[in-house]
Amino acid sequence: MTDKPANTMWGGRFAMSPAEIMQEINASIGFDKQLAPQDIRGSKAHAAMLAEAGIITKSDAREIAKGLDKIKAEIDAGTFEFSRALEDVHMNVENRLKELIGPAAGRLHTARSRNDQVATDFRLFVRDAIDGIDEALANVQQALAEKAEAHAATVMPGFTHLQPAQPVTFGHHLLAYVEMIARDRGRFADARKRLNESPLGSAALAGTSFPIDREQTAQALGFDRPMANSLDGVSDRDFALEALAAATITAVHFSRLAEEIVIWMTPQFGFVKLSDRFTTGSSIMPQKRNPDAAELARAKVGRIAAAFQGLVIVMKGLPLAYSKDMQEDKETTFDAFSSLRLVMAAMAGMIADLEPNAEAMRAAAGRGYSTATDLADWLVRELKMPFREAHHVTGSIVKAAEAKGVDLDQLSLSDMQAVEPRITKAVFSVLSVENSVKSRTSYGGTAPQNVAKMARQWLRRLEKARGKV
Ligand code: ARG
Repeated sequence: MTDKPANTMWGGRFAMSPAEIMQEINASIGFDKQLAPQDIRGSKAHAAMLAEAGIITKSDAREIAKGLDKIKAEIDAGTFEFSRALEDVHMNVENRLKELIGPAAGRLHTARSRNDQVATDFRLFVRDAIDGIDEALANVQQALAEKAEAHAATVMPGFTHLQPAQPVTFGHHLLAYVEMIARDRGRFADARKRLNESPLGSAALAGTSFPIDREQTAQALGFDRPMANSLDGVSDRDFALEALAAATITAVHFSRLAEEIVIWMTPQFGFVKLSDRFTTGSSIMPQKRNPDAAELARAKVGRIAAAFQGLVIVMKGLPLAYSKDMQEDKETTFDAFSSLRLVMAAMAGMIADLEPNAEAMRAAAGRGYSTATDLADWLVRELKMPFREAHHVTGSIVKAAEAKGVDLDQLSLSDMQAVEPRITKAVFSVLSVENSVKSRTSYGGTAPQNVAKMARQWLRRLEKARGKV
């Protein structure tokens, strides 16, 4: 294959075309064709600026823009033929432009290099991805807040060490994830701010001698300003790393929620029922109902975290400015974002469909001496006992209940008084799970009135933000 003519984009210096294996390792078109919309946006902005600055003629710029629009339409229609010999999306588009409009196409690459071109395309892509992710995260928050409002008073066991700890409400538990996702959105928004500078015009690495207007292209592409250093412009991928880090943390949150859904769905817990829409059966065991969607949402964090780590390793130790290593930034980043998109959509659907079994949760909430802390607090409040002593006394009462095989609220007053004679029957009021959660009125606590208020607040906030878009 080496006797084929050299690449037409740089053929001047080359007598032979690349070895087959060289093409295979070098070509990125298999995945960077995903950047075509951004590539065309970037090229249109560049061409318009070149004409404005008098670097190319207005009529050439018009031809270029028309040709690029045609290419966009071909790509959208699926009729565009991507060629591996043309290596990447940039050269595929430019080559097609030449076929469509002739020599004027050759002027598009004036004062530009694929280095600033790809940096621009990839930034635009990551920015678009962030915007899509933010919207999807808002949808998950919405589903969670709606469920939380409906179940502000539905009691369930709260766990530490996955051992029953204190009763909480299901709404409170769901709102914990609304808060996590709010921080996830904050991380993406923050990454977006730093990302939003234009590398276009950095050219290969040193800038250009043409009188380009980098402000104009930055503005046309929705960037806040041009990047201030051309070497930096073409050689950093920290914007992708930040977005991948944010995606990883987000995926960790979803993985935890997914794991909880898996646990809650086991017959042993029986806390929730997930609709047929998000479960599967087994080909051999007719009784099965498996939470596959939750399991996959739990697992996707693996590839998302790997994308982050992979790019960290690619970038580590790379000398300035561009090196081809950086072509390895895209495939895994694309995959990470589309994986996250799947996770978010599946989670939003699952949460909306999730049906808690209030009786099972209520019953479980009462088991495991979950109101022991309420008892200890009562001793502190009513008998003015120091908390450490109250903790000890309560421990002895739990031991007595355990010996009798009953829950705390089933233990008789005389059994309790055998441990601490000053206890009165008023103590029973704090031993029910309902009263336990009701009493947790501290800010951020699980009291149903708190939870309902927080859920409503979130729903209002989400509604308002949606109105803005
Ligand atoms: N496909 C390349 C990439 O993704 C585009 C930039 C190529 N630049 C170069 N100097 N060979 O990184």
